[in-house]
Amino acid sequence: MRFKKKSKIFKASWAFGLALLLSAAAAAAAGLAPAIPAAAVLPQPTAVTMQPDQAPFALDPKPLVTAPAALVGPAQALASRLGLSLTETAPKSGRLIRFELDPSVGPVVGAYRLQVREAQITISAAEPAGAFYAVQTLLQMLPKASAAGKLSQFSIPALDITDAPRFVWRGLMLDVARHFHGVERVKRMLDQMAVYKLNRLHLHLSDDSGWRVAIKAYPLLTTIGARGDYSNPKRGAQFYSAADIRAIVAYAAERYIEVVPEIDMPGHSGAAARAYPEFFDGRVSFNPAHPGTYRFIDTVLGELASLFPGRYIHFGGDEVWIDKTRWGEMPDVLAMARDLSPAGGNSVGEAPQIKRVEAEFARRMVQMIKKHGRIAIGWDEVIAAGLTDDMVVQWWRMDHPEAVHTALKQGQAVVLSPVDRLYLDYPAGLGEPGAPWEGNTGGPISVEKIVAWEPMPVGLQAEQQARVLGLEAPLWTENVRSESYLEYMLYPRLAAVAEVAWREQANSAPETFVKRLEPHIARWKAQGLNVRGSRDDANQYRVH
Ligand code: ACM
Repeated sequence: MRFKKKSKIFKASWAFGLALLLSAAAAAAAGLAPAIPAAAVLPQPTAVTMQPDQAPFALDPKPLVTAPAALVGPAQALASRLGLSLTETAPKSGRLIRFELDPSVGPVVGAYRLQVREAQITISAAEPAGAFYAVQTLLQMLPKASAAGKLSQFSIPALDITDAPRFVWRGLMLDVARHFHGVERVKRMLDQMAVYKLNRLHLHLSDDSGWRVAIKAYPLLTTIGARGDYSNPKRGAQFYSAADIRAIVAYAAERYIEVVPEIDMPGHSGAAARAYPEFFDGRVSFNPAHPGTYRFIDTVLGELASLFPGRYIHFGGDEVWIDKTRWGEMPDVLAMARDLSPAGGNSVGEAPQIKRVEAEFARRMVQMIKKHGRIAIGWDEVIAAGLTDDMVVQWWRMDHPEAVHTALKQGQAVVLSPVDRLYLDYPAGLGEPGAPWEGNTGGPISVEKIVAWEPMPVGLQAEQQARVLGLEAPLWTENVRSESYLEYMLYPRLAAVAEVAWREQANSAPETFVKRLEPHIARWKAQGLNVRGSRDDANQYRVH
């Protein structure tokens, strides 16, 4: 955060501590979950200028909210949270929270200005997402009301904030295949994502453990494929109906969050294989040589495109390990490999040729997704296909940093999800529970480790940097069954992920971030969330 000259109050750390204390005390006195002081708003705004010589803005008597038609959505969100009335035309006098469209605030989507003075709060943005983020900043600085009316005891200090996100892609991924997490749970997660200005929710909808979305043309995907999960293969079917998906998508859209569906293919498809074995290899991978496979996938992708209005469909593409498929012994796949091999290539059945089949599968997925009017996303293994299509590559394999450069050279966009920084299924601290497998060699994924990370890969030209869309933290759920454990893995790390995705650069010491996190942890706890406060909180999950 760049504090400008006038910002005397929060420069010294003692003053910062005092501000935290005073705000917590005021909130406690009113019986409310604590407010966050301006200096501790997360993610860190680009610039905060306190105006200590000016009077604060009080919520009593009630101000009016006014907004032009284009910003009514975010204005309504604020008005209903604070119990205020919204009008489109501002009255001549009276205290206001005024939204204004100001094209000069852009060009970055999500940019805003927030000015707090005694008579008026002014929120300026070039488009609604920016106004929505200004509202989130404002709401963080107010206590969370536990009872209507109590908020009126509060005022917001005079200040100026200018703010804009660094990255356009600020995401979380939730694996609902290994253990299913229902609509209400996802909505609660979307609520917190919105507070921290995250804007992509990637749902990993299928894997070996379960298929989690109803597809009308293939009912066995849910009657058979949705049965069971990672803990219990006999559990009854769990999946999202079309109405569930519509509810999630709409709830996310109200929070300026785009939902990205993933059907993981051609590997990781064991659940679909149980339902429609004729399109598979006898294990967990599609049969890439069977024409029916592509008709099946095309229909599934078509239904997916009608369920999810967002711009992207993720087709997985990860971990098609040769020893996990039967491709090397299937005559039709070997024939396909032979046809794909350049003359004089390796002998049939060798892994390189099977890899060509995998590449051909990826190529067809990208084309099919494009045909359905969406942009394809694949995990970074898909770079081996050498595609030059307009698509997004999601980098996860930290031991393959070249994948980012290859994707960018191929003209593609990249989302960063390296396992050693952003995999939220890994432990948050030494000796704590979490996934024990691949990539987890660099120590726990602590808040400090996340915020110490400068995500932009080195050695990129400006044009390539512009195609690094941002970052996304995956939460795989082999171990995550309950909502309490889900919350434990998400909070407070969600705020650290948001910080790295939003702030200008890796510019704050991890200790400073941890300090700024304190009032957020107190607030989450007051809301009843099972946030990890310290290592001691891990005890209950050691035997989870
Ligand atoms: C992955 O973790 N297999 C993308």
